[in-house]
Amino acid sequence: MPGAETFRASADAYDRFVGRYGPGLATGLIDFAGVAPGMRTLDVGCGPGALAAVLVERLGAARVSAVDPSAPFVDACRARLPGVDVVEAGAEALPFADGAFDAALSQLVINFMPDGEAGVREMARVTRPAGVVAACVWDYGGEMTLLRAFWDAAREVDPDRAGAADEGVVMLWCADGELADLWRAAGLGSVRFGSLVASAKYADFDDLWSPLPTGVGPAGAFCKSLEDDQQAALRDALRRRLGVDDGPFELTARAWSVVGRVPG
Ligand SMILES: C[S@@+](CC[C@H](N)C(=O)[O-])C[C@H]1O[C@@H](n2cnc3c(N)ncnc32)[C@H](O)[C@@H]1O
Repeated sequence: MPGAETFRASADAYDRFVGRYGPGLATGLIDFAGVAPGMRTLDVGCGPGALAAVLVERLGAARVSAVDPSAPFVDACRARLPGVDVVEAGAEALPFADGAFDAALSQLVINFMPDGEAGVREMARVTRPAGVVAACVWDYGGEMTLLRAFWDAAREVDPDRAGAADEGVVMLWCADGELADLWRAAGLGSVRFGSLVASAKYADFDDLWSPLPTGVGPAGAFCKSLEDDQQAALRDALRRRLGVDDGPFELTARAWSVVGRVPG
């Protein structure tokens, strides 16, 4: 699935796009994974640092490392989280020794890895025996309200191109239960699959819309690629589908979650 390159973006645009769901989702993922005080942890695909920030609150910066292949996101994560070891790298070749961590976590990333199987095997390799490997991905086809409404609106405007780019269709590992199969295939045991719900507040519809024409994420890239009149039609269709007006509102988003243990 193409899309990782759409995160060579500004951290500010990402924050205003799906980054606003990050802190709540991170809290849910950390609890689901059973991260406890004293653990050494790795955030894989850290972006500007939503998950790493909650890990720092719980464990202290010295117990948190983070990687991401996007240079602007690595810079933002380093600036936001002093003391965290942030490295520019992809999941498929993690620059850490075997068993270096008690837990490796990844939030909203597995589906963007060019080789998800290799990425999860690497997360397991750098986690000690009996340590935990956990992740979550958006339920793009169902209850990630913002992105589901976006792609349904996009299909109204350009059915062929939007149908081919709809994250609910093209993303791997994002259907109910698929992550658990991936975890077992990577040799992880005691696999548990579940779901997490996060929410985000918006001042008004413009607050939601404004990051999309910048091209951040696959939805933003699709939006940016449209002619002005199509972009205006998409804006109207998205607003209608969300049923929001000029006042503040809140949306919820569901992510599938998985956790497993390294054998031994
Ligand atoms: C939707 S963002 C999630 C960022 C962050 N984890 C969060 O929760 O806000 C997806 C992230 O995956 C990163 N990414 C893309 N390909 C990757 C890979 N092969 N290995 C690790 N991270 C990758 C992107 O650079 C981007 O930061």
